[in-house]
Amino acid sequence: MCGIVGCFAETGCYERVLAALERLENRGYDSAGIALTADGRLSVRKKKGAVANLCGAPLAGRAGIGHTRWATHGKPSDENAHPHVAGKFALVHNGIVENHAALKAELLAAGETFASETDSEVIVKLIARAYKGDFFSAVAQACARLTGAYAVAVLCTDFPEEIVCAKNKSPLIAGAGCGAAYVCSDVPALCGAAAYVCPAEDGEFIHIRGGEICFRRADGSPAEKVFTRLTEAAGAVRPPRGSCMEAEIAQIPQGLARTLGWLRGCDFAPAARALRSAGRVFTVACGTAHHAAQAFGALLSREARIPVLCETASEFRYGDPLIGQGDVLVAVSQSGETADTLEAVRLAKARGAFVIAVTNVEQSTLARLADLPLRTVAGAEVAVAATKSYNCQLLALFYLAAQTVFYKRACFPSWFAALGAAADACAGALEGAADAETLAARLQTARALYFIGRGTDRFTAAEGALKVREIAYVFAESCPAGELKHGTLALVEEGFPVIAVATGRALLQKTANSLAEAKARGAFTVLFSQYADAAGGADVFCPLPALPEPLMPLVSVIPLQQFACRMCLLRGFDPDRPRNLAKSVTVE
Ligand code: M6R
Repeated sequence: MCGIVGCFAETGCYERVLAALERLENRGYDSAGIALTADGRLSVRKKKGAVANLCGAPLAGRAGIGHTRWATHGKPSDENAHPHVAGKFALVHNGIVENHAALKAELLAAGETFASETDSEVIVKLIARAYKGDFFSAVAQACARLTGAYAVAVLCTDFPEEIVCAKNKSPLIAGAGCGAAYVCSDVPALCGAAAYVCPAEDGEFIHIRGGEICFRRADGSPAEKVFTRLTEAAGAVRPPRGSCMEAEIAQIPQGLARTLGWLRGCDFAPAARALRSAGRVFTVACGTAHHAAQAFGALLSREARIPVLCETASEFRYGDPLIGQGDVLVAVSQSGETADTLEAVRLAKARGAFVIAVTNVEQSTLARLADLPLRTVAGAEVAVAATKSYNCQLLALFYLAAQTVFYKRACFPSWFAALGAAADACAGALEGAADAETLAARLQTARALYFIGRGTDRFTAAEGALKVREIAYVFAESCPAGELKHGTLALVEEGFPVIAVATGRALLQKTANSLAEAKARGAFTVLFSQYADAAGGADVFCPLPALPEPLMPLVSVIPLQQFACRMCLLRGFDPDRPRNLAKSVTVE
């Protein structure tokens, strides 16, 4: 959610913090702020809106902190922007202080006043009150009183070359090299800025003193840590023209080719063995990643005859799931930092399950937590709406399913080899952009849309609907095609758009029937399929390139991604910064 950064550098500290904030901006763009300390005083610049609003002369100092905000407590405003200041201290925070109301009441009773509506301001007040000349111990004492998730970076005017950082559940990573010492909430934000990284564990502190980075425990004792080379591909690069989302859709074939290369070099025997012999198999993920996990679950059940329970991560962890020793949990997350997914994984691990994770960020928390991390190599995904990462997740998960079928049945599923052709098929799907454009132009004023599908197509339909909601701000829902007549059909009136995805020959006629039932009630019907003979009944038919049917979700989602993006642009919105959202959802 929010992005935080801290930096010590002999020169150019302000510029470095600003550059890191630009890389962090998709973590929240409600407000941005920077503080540096020098000559016994703090210089703070903070503003509602994007990082670009922080224009002005560089602030002086060699230690600085910065923040991009996704509002949780208090509306987006200059006052609620971080850093928050109390006396000699400035603080940036990512997370939610769950006991902030009680702490605030206590601080108010003690005579404190508050400049913001945020939960974060209580932390800096607690630090200022705990301070008796020892910067580190004031932060440690304040953090001991917090419940909830937090990663904080703090400046103190008495120690102008130091930054003290603490974390619980929210990610915090130290970065070194390139003439600076960093802390940051997200590994991708350090790409190009640091050569080595080391994540902090819950309860650990990172203390930057000059160019030196120390990991410490709450009692101040040093914690031994090992830095590793930063392996993430170059971070967020905005295309010279157009949006990141358009560029990222166009990059799907390259992402798939890279991911396939990585998968081919990977030993799948342990993962396949675990799945084959598992008592129960679960998937957990959120949003788009959940749709990929559901497609995987359906494929694994059908082809490997292994029952799979797919649950959204936020429900899994509070549902007291029947998971334990001998079970397998497959967690899917582009960022590898989604709080709900991480908590579900922690719960599964605590109960003895084996965890396989699919993530696009190799040094993420999820990759570190997993017993068996698998990679997607989609490249940095900047747009908040997930696109190329979804196709790469499907590829990695289908590859895993294929390997499991192979190990379980001692046969190669017929579609195994076809995974190698997925990148070319997706390049073919991208050429259908004109269809998506025409459809978007036709439907740009629609007040609502329905997406339907059967089998794995229903997950593609759900992903299409999510994309439209997320960036085009049109009410869009999905349902299994057969469910339409059980209630949703009541919504259909003259001109109501119903969009079907039908890529399974066996279910094609059934989906066509559902579409016909909608059309009979006046719906404007659209069909996406690789089977041209199904075109007849729909008002608009959009052809898809063909892959073996089990792999069709890889290509069938592409025109829906393009459609949502065109809808968004035609309606005058920015696809890269959908309102109210952020790229990495690190709060529950
Ligand atoms: O980083 P993750 O894959 O764990 O993120 C999960 C969801 O927050 C994410 O897929 C979200 O739904 C996307 N913005 C949808 O486009």
